[in-house]
Amino acid sequence: ARPTADAVPDDLSEVERGVQACRRCPLYRDATQGVCGEGPSGARLMIVGEQPGDQEDLAGQPFVGPAGGVLDAALEEAGIERADVYVTNAVKHFKHEPRGKRRLHKTPNAGEVQACRWWLDAERRLIRPRLVLALGATAGLAVLGRKPAVTKERGRALPLDDGSVGMVTVHPSYLLRLPNADSRAEARRGFVDDLIAARGLIS
Ligand code: URA
Repeated sequence: ARPTADAVPDDLSEVERGVQACRRCPLYRDATQGVCGEGPSGARLMIVGEQPGDQEDLAGQPFVGPAGGVLDAALEEAGIERADVYVTNAVKHFKHEPRGKRRLHKTPNAGEVQACRWWLDAERRLIRPRLVLALGATAGLAVLGRKPAVTKERGRALPLDDGSVGMVTVHPSYLLRLPNADSRAEARRGFVDDLIAARGLIS
């Protein structure tokens, strides 16, 4: 049977269909498509980003653009295979505003994050990861239900209601935005350290 908009998804294909048909918030209007998570259904680690960017919106896959390049390299350095990770986003549609020919990322608001938790929570129920790693404050809000102080709380194991463990760290786009090469290298090391801490909690 075709799932209705409010039917709790029983498997990841229902999540995919549901996201494509989602009208829980207005962001579907200006996006090419919804971008669901990707990765094995038995993943012990789930990584949650903020929302698809320009390239993810076009490709229909999470973290395939510049931030994805940073994430992939940091995962490799931390000894984590991306193929073993379920990678998703707090918000499944690309929120943006036009700037000339470009589409500039706009941070989703708390209402949009709340609306899209329906899908993130479904992914978490279906995957049942041991650790849910949130990249940045918006993903942290979606995972923890409160906005974390990322600088203070990063890299720590935070207990979650469903018995899994949460962790927050910086968003890879933040690393890309740092203007100075030294501070970028240092921030990148901190990011890799948090991924190593995450690896320690799932192995
Ligand atoms: N940034 C995100 O938070 N998620 C993506 O999928 C890509 C960039």
